[in-house]
Parts: sequence; C-alpha cells; structure tokens
Amino acid sequence: MRSSALEWLRDPQDGRPLTVAEGATIVDGVLVEGELVGTMRRYAIRDGVPDLAPDETLFGTARFARGYYRGIADSYDETVHVTFDLYGDTEDGFRETLVDRLGVRPGDRVLELSAGTGRDSERLLRRLGAHGHLWLLDLSPDMLRHAADRLRDAPVPVDLCVGNAAALPFADDAFDALFCFTGVGHFPDLRRALAEMGRVVRPGGRVLFCEKNVPPWLRDTTYGRILINNNPMFADPVPLTDLPVCARNVRVQWLLGNVHYVIDYDVGEGEPVGNFDLDLPGYRGGTFNTRYYGRLEGVTPQAKALYERAAAARGESLHAWLDRVVRSAAEADLSGDGDAGPVAGDEAPTGPGAG
Ligand SMILES: C[S@@+](CC[C@H](N)C(=O)[O-])C[C@H]1O[C@@H](n2cnc3c(N)ncnc32)[C@H](O)[C@@H]1O
Repeated sequence: MRSSALEWLRDPQDGRPLTVAEGATIVDGVLVEGELVGTMRRYAIRDGVPDLAPDETLFGTARFARGYYRGIADSYDETVHVTFDLYGDTEDGFRETLVDRLGVRPGDRVLELSAGTGRDSERLLRRLGAHGHLWLLDLSPDMLRHAADRLRDAPVPVDLCVGNAAALPFADDAFDALFCFTGVGHFPDLRRALAEMGRVVRPGGRVLFCEKNVPPWLRDTTYGRILINNNPMFADPVPLTDLPVCARNVRVQWLLGNVHYVIDYDVGEGEPVGNFDLDLPGYRGGTFNTRYYGRLEGVTPQAKALYERAAAARGESLHAWLDRVVRSAAEADLSGDGDAGPVAGDEAPTGPGAG
C-alpha cells in the first residue's frame, strides 16, 4: 500500500482514520512493513498489505472462508476455468462482459471486493486509464499474495488490503464503483456487507456483484439439482431484501449458465423522492401525501354514505369535500370561546397501541 493511500482507509472497528506507527518501513512511498494504529488496536502491514481483518476478529463463516482459501490459494488460478467451462463459456469472455457492465470510466476510483488472485483486476485497470485508482480487498492474505504478484507492474495506482466485507475499512463515498465476482456467498453478515458496499460508493457511483444461484424456475430440473448437489451455495437466495435503500435502477439478471445472478445498481442518497403533493384527478382526489398523512378516525357507515353523496352532489372529489368540511367545522369550533377545547379523556392518542 502506498502511504498516500492511507487517506482512504478507516479503522473497520469504529470508522476513524488510521495512522502509521513509528518505525514503519517505507520504500519509494510504499508502506512495506509496520503497523497501522487504530483507536483500539494495531493492524500489521506485511509485504505492503495491511491486514485490517486480523484472525482474532473473525468468527464463523469468515473464519472458515479464510482457512478454506488458505488451502486453495496456490491452485486457484489453475482450476478456476472450470467455473466457466461447465457452461460452455470462456473465462475471458465472461469476465470482460461483467466488467463492461459496471461501466467504469477512465480516472475512476474502484474497489474490487473479494478480489482473490486478481483475475478481474487487470481488466478493471485497463478501463481506468493512467489517472484511475484501484483498491483490492480480500479476506484471504494468501489469495491476495497472488494478486500482488500479478499486478506488480500495473500502470495504474493499485493498493491492496486484507479486510472483511462486513466492515469495510474505507471512508464513506470513497469510490466511484465497486465490483465483486463470487465473494458475496461467503459473507458472514450479508445485509451488513451490502450496506457497506453502498456506504463506500459515492452517490452517483455504481455497484455490481455476481454470485451462484439456481433460479426458482430451474430448482426442480435435473440441471439445477446436479449443481446444488455439488455445491449447496447454488441454493442460496438472491439477496434482494438485503439491498440498501440507496440502491437505484437495480438490474438483476441470471448469466453464466443461467445459474449466476448479477445485480448492479446506481448509488443514490437515502430514499427515492416522489412528487407526492401532485393533485390526483378523479373521484377520490387529494394527493399521495394527504392519503398517507391526512388519515382521520373512522365514521359510522351512515355518515360515510352521506359524505359520498354530498361530495358527488357538489361535484367535488372526496378529498376536496372532506378537507373543506373538516377544516371549516374545526375552525368554527376553535374560534369559539373555549367550549371547543379538548374534552378530558379526548386528547389525541399517542404512543404505540394508541387508539
Ligand atoms: C470464489 S473466490 C473469487 C475470487 C475472485 N473474485 C475471482 O473472481 O476469482 C471468493 C473470494 O472471496 C473472498 N472472501 C470470502 N469471504 C470474504 C469476506 N468476508 N470479505 C471479503 N472477501 C471474502 C475469499 O477469500 C476469496 O478470495
């Protein structure tokens, strides 16, 4: 990691900036060995890669994943082609299509999450141009070691760190885009990881991730059953309910053998905004906001029938009639000499279960 890249990093435990401990080895602006100092702990830097997910912070699935990828890191590059051969696709063709879909532009700052041995990294770099910047994060230092070798002479600034998707060690809005191919299925707390992905990409940026999944319409086929039998991750659900509120223009598509979902979206800010004060034509009238915020207590069925007839007789929408009548009756009562004040026990209900 270049020391200038420190500004991007945050302590995954509390989101605060990190500092470099005294005595660190820096060669040509690259932090090679030493420690990063957070509020509550220090993080080792080995061979230029800070470990922001030390073993003692990992439990369950994450601990398992680190051990699993330690075991296969050295053979991963030789065997990964099977993932594509199984469906008559080529690794090169599919990965290029997926990276294209992210829509990275020259000069962008991109996070490749669960980058593994860096098989998509060069493809991303090619699209970033000389002024772009790529960060690689993976839970497995063993996988990242191969990525570091692959990218040693990269023409674009590249920084690597060990980290956990459930607590990304980056500042809010740090990236223009985030890319993740077949990492999501390993994440220990998927909802949190998806929130983190939305947090570190700036509004207007893009997120794309792809993972195994036999879709519902293929579950009862021999094809689907063979895949799930071989790897139960094919039965994991598509995490649509875990997407963050900031996700806009979400696209979901099943590619690569029709058994890998790809979700990509634009990052927005907070909830979408609707034009909910727009006057609605027709019998009910009002606006989406009056219907949502202006709900009143119920009335008797007889009163309701009268109100509908009266509105029709006046040629008003239900909303217009009700709003006018309630308003004028309330104003008349409130302008009286006090006899319209709240009657004891008639105060507006408050709190859960009121009414
Ligand atoms: C199937 S490999 C994919 C690697 C690479 N994206 C590729 O396309 O070849 C899954 C990667 O997810 C990483 N991973 C697993 N759990 C993770 C987590 N909690 N946070 C970040 N990465 C994780 C693994 O270490 C592994 O490198």
